[in-house]
Amino acid sequence: MEIFLDGADLDDIVRHKDLIDGVTTNPSVLSRHKSSEHRSIIEEICSIVTGPVSMEVNSEKYADMLEEGRRISKIHSSICVKLPCTFDGFRCCRALSVDGVPTNLTLCFSAAQAMLAAKCGATYVSPFLGRLDDAGHSGLSMLEEIVEIFSVQDYETKVLAASVRNLQHVIGAAIIGADAITMPATVLKQCFDHPLTAAGLEIFARDYSLCDTSQTRH
Ligand code: E4P
Repeated sequence: MEIFLDGADLDDIVRHKDLIDGVTTNPSVLSRHKSSEHRSIIEEICSIVTGPVSMEVNSEKYADMLEEGRRISKIHSSICVKLPCTFDGFRCCRALSVDGVPTNLTLCFSAAQAMLAAKCGATYVSPFLGRLDDAGHSGLSMLEEIVEIFSVQDYETKVLAASVRNLQHVIGAAIIGADAITMPATVLKQCFDHPLTAAGLEIFARDYSLCDTSQTRH
């Protein structure tokens, strides 16, 4: 399962670059920076990580979306153009995939949307687990359906678990067989930080520091 960092904080990306296969951004995380800086931030992210970097279009209408998607795709060879799971987004996905531009179909909340993303040649489709949970449904159940359909139908599009809020989402996505997951730095930290690991290290360090003293004593 590919692991992406979800966000545009350069310090987070530099800190975690050895653990991740790429980065996903969205208009909300980029809005924390001035719009004039978005392109340079994305360029900087592409220079830090070797894998795909998803950047989303802001246009909603097909022609504008296609023009914006093509423009975004030229920023760097690592760019994956993020498009919404809407009628215009699916059409734009089809057009960009014909051009060979990698795409990530975002804001996916149903297996039917994921299926259309695959039919339109998306590179990735991003089912939003956390936001579907927030709406009173099960994000992991949707993910399970999508992974099952993609296996039965032999779709090439990769399933990218997104809107990940906790370790249950991470472990669930891995068990279900998602191809990729994107998580904020807070959740990635929970993947490697464990209180028992920290406590065990403290015990080992304390025992080791006593080692020479105790050998002298015996
Ligand atoms: C990633 O591609 C999405 O933009 C992101 O996972 C959304 O996460 P959120 O629902 O926590 O904002």
